[in-house]
Amino acid sequence: MGINVTTEFLAKDAHKAAKRGDLIIVVDVLRCTSTVVTALANGAREIIPVKSLREARRMRAENPSYLLAGERGGLKPSGFDLGNSPLEYMREKVFGKTIVLTTTSGTKALNNSKGARWVLVGSFLNLNAVSEKALSIAISEGTDICIVQSGTNGEFSLEDFICAGAIIDSLNSLTKGDVNLSDAAKAALLGFTYVKNDLCASIMRSRHSTRLIKMGFIEDIRFSCQMNLFPITPFYNGRSITLK
Ligand code: MLT
Repeated sequence: MGINVTTEFLAKDAHKAAKRGDLIIVVDVLRCTSTVVTALANGAREIIPVKSLREARRMRAENPSYLLAGERGGLKPSGFDLGNSPLEYMREKVFGKTIVLTTTSGTKALNNSKGARWVLVGSFLNLNAVSEKALSIAISEGTDICIVQSGTNGEFSLEDFICAGAIIDSLNSLTKGDVNLSDAAKAALLGFTYVKNDLCASIMRSRHSTRLIKMGFIEDIRFSCQMNLFPITPFYNGRSITLK
């Protein structure tokens, strides 16, 4: 079959994958892509990821029915309806809503993926669904796959690396090993294989987890470590993220 699979470690490198023509899966386990997956699973109509607070506020001023959501420094910015905790995105709050979302790294990785023909949103919560969809598109369109890890504040993050490894593990199983993995992809797969039986505890040791735990968000980490809770695949079309 010969599909090449690789992974980029930082949000800023999403454009490299877009330039190569890869199908991109954006991952930000803590917490942006876990939040996006949860919101759409609970009936949100669409999510518009934007880079700045200013842009988010402007969009909401122009569209008063939109929900304004996201974080800076992990916390909900003033005047926002929702923070970046996936547990806030329950059906009664988000059903039928358009949500403008701005976060430190995740929405950057999404915006930096613009130009790619296919941008999918991945997390542990939708691990198998996103892997299956990515593989079927890559086979039918003859593209390679790149998992873009968002990282944390411009630096490598353990949780995104492990989730990239989980997606690669799933792609490997689906093709019975018939994928060509880059060294970066092999490293992520080794990382996931090493911690998979103790996933949540291992992720809790990451730098960003430690920070979130201090801020009182331990339940967000537990929630985001669940595998395959939502069998859905969100797509980003360069403007908004929806379920197709
Ligand atoms: C981000 O996009 O940087 C994260 O989602 C930050 C967070 O945990 O809120």
